[in-house]
Amino acid sequence: MRKIIIAGNWKMNKTLDEVNDFFKGISEWEKDFEHRCQILIFPSNIYIQIALKMLDENNIDIGVQNIYYKDFGAYTGEISPKMILSIGSKYSLVGHSERRNIFHETDEEVNLKVKSLISNGVNVVMCVGETEEEREAGKTEKVLEQQLNYGLKDILPPDMKNIILAYEPVWAIGTGRTATPEIAEQAHKFIRDWISQKFGKNIAAEISILYGGSIKVSNIRDLIAQEDIDGGLIGGASLKLEDFKEIIKISEKNINRQ
Ligand code: 13P
Repeated sequence: MRKIIIAGNWKMNKTLDEVNDFFKGISEWEKDFEHRCQILIFPSNIYIQIALKMLDENNIDIGVQNIYYKDFGAYTGEISPKMILSIGSKYSLVGHSERRNIFHETDEEVNLKVKSLISNGVNVVMCVGETEEEREAGKTEKVLEQQLNYGLKDILPPDMKNIILAYEPVWAIGTGRTATPEIAEQAHKFIRDWISQKFGKNIAAEISILYGGSIKVSNIRDLIAQEDIDGGLIGGASLKLEDFKEIIKISEKNINRQ
């Protein structure tokens, strides 16, 4: 049965003191909490080592928000999969819409990053999602198909066990406008069917597809109850410890499967 994952993408937020407070709080809470969800947090890169150290005895995974696809070299400002592995982190986000839109990351670069992470044994959370304009023009499925086709080009079926997908409609990110559970489920089902056609039924049944876009304590219950929604990739609400814990608790109670 596929994993249910509650992930926090902190983006460019929090000072060192705030990071310390959050990890202290979640580490104490998590030790007493028997959970069925995997918890995954993507802090800013400069806090990764602190996070790994503080959560050493916890069941919480720490990942990076972005990598460059080369191993080492003259790439000022970048970090590589080999570097993150060397400090003990095993997850990376790829293709977040903020990377695509603000930093002009192309589908081809997304694919190079996915391949580099997979060949280094790092797990990937690859984000896809349409803009409001694309949705209104009826192009949602076409856009998702293109992002999946390019992003997962040359990926082999055995590699898919290290890939998690995240559907993040751009119009729902940071806007307070969450996709309705029905809209989100429709997109998730489309993505799972696409995976099934490309990689087979078994892989499609096993891959976790997370929803992201204005998830809050008040809407997680109905989203997580959908058949093809296997967790959340949470921005704003993951910055607040109490909200993040509540989202994890509600998710555990409302997962639509055993
Ligand atoms: P918000 O939850 O703030 O809308 O952000 C979602 C997101 O971009 C997670 O990667």
